[in-house]
Amino acid sequence: DVFQQTGNSGPILELIYKLKVADVMTHNPKTIAVHNTMRDAQKIMRELGISGLPVLDNSRLVGIVTIGNIIDAFDAGDINAAVKNYMSTPVVTLEDDMPLSYAITFVNKYHFRRYPVISKTGVLLGIITATDIIKSLLIEMNTEFTKLETIFKKETEKHVEQEGILESLQFPTIKYDFEHAGTASTELKNTLKKHGFDNAIIRRASIVSYELELNQIIHSDGGFMQYTISRKGVEILAKDRGPGIQDIQLALREGFSTANDWIRSIGFGAGLGLPNARKSSDEFSIDSSTRGTMVRAYIFAQPREL
Ligand SMILES: Nc1ncnc2c1ncn2[C@@H]1O[C@H](COP(=O)(O)OP(=O)(O)OP(=O)(O)O)[C@@H](O)[C@H]1O
Ligand SMILES: [Mg+2]
Repeated sequence: DVFQQTGNSGPILELIYKLKVADVMTHNPKTIAVHNTMRDAQKIMRELGISGLPVLDNSRLVGIVTIGNIIDAFDAGDINAAVKNYMSTPVVTLEDDMPLSYAITFVNKYHFRRYPVISKTGVLLGIITATDIIKSLLIEMNTEFTKLETIFKKETEKHVEQEGILESLQFPTIKYDFEHAGTASTELKNTLKKHGFDNAIIRRASIVSYELELNQIIHSDGGFMQYTISRKGVEILAKDRGPGIQDIQLALREGFSTANDWIRSIGFGAGLGLPNARKSSDEFSIDSSTRGTMVRAYIFAQPREL
C-alpha cells in the first residue's frame, strides 16, 4: 500500500511504468532441486539469509520453499523429507517483460515476500522482492532528480545571464525644466559605466535617452524616463502625458520640428532628435495619441564586452 499512498506521484508513476520487472529482479537466484531435502533448503536459506527458495524440477519452476514450510517440516519431525513434500504450490510468478506496476500490484495482492520471475517459456530468470522494487525506484528517482536539478540549474543560470535585470531606474521630467534637462540621461550613463558596458553602447544609449528626455521637456506636458538594464541590453521607455505627436512619420523625418523661435534661440529645434534616436537604437517604436506619447528604444549589449 506504500505505493498507493504517495500523494503527488506523477514522476514515480512514470518510473513504475517505464521500468520492467527484468530491470529490478535479482538475476540467477539460488534454487533447490525438487529431490533435495528440507534440511538442505533450510541450510541454504540460513547461509544466504533469505526467506524463500525457488524449487526446480529439471530447470522448470515447480514451487517455492518458505520459512513457513521449513517450520512445518520441523514440527512434523520430517526435516529430512524431500522438498517436494513441503514446498508451497502453486507459485505466484511474474514475467520478465511485465512493467514494474504489475509487480507492485502482486506485492499488494498476495503479500508474499518473493516472486520468481519466469520467461515466456517458463524458465526461471530471477526473483523479485518488495525491497528490490523500492531500492530500484529510489535509485531511479535519484537519477531523475539529479537530471531535473541539473536542467533547473542550467535554466536558472541562463535566465540570470540573459534576462537578469541589473538595474531599473525611473526619472520624472517636467515641462520646460531646462535646469534639470539631461539629469536622467546622465544617471543612465553612470549606471551603464558602473556595470561595465561597452563605451559604444553607453554612447548610443546616452544619445537616445537625451533626445527623448529633451523632447519630453520641450514638447510634452511632462512624463518620465524609465530604464531597464540587463546583461542583454538597455531598454529606454519615455512616457509622457501629451499633447502627443500628430504625425509620427513626419516627426521622424530629419529637419522636421514644431519648435518655436524661443526654443530655437536656446539651441534646440533642428528636428534631428527623433531620427538620431532611432538610428542609435536596435529597436525603436513610437506610440502616440493626444493623451500622450510613449517611445520605446532598445540597445543590445555586446556580451563579449561584459
Ligand atoms: N514627446 C513629444 N510630445 C509631443 N511631440 C513630440 C514629442 N517628441 C517629439 N515631438 C514632435 O516631433 C518633432 C520632431 O522631434 P525631434 O526630436 O526630431 O526634433 P525637435 O525636438 O523638434 O528638434 P531637436 O530634437 O533637433 O532639438 C518635434 O518638433 C515635435 O513636434
Ligand atoms: Mg528633439
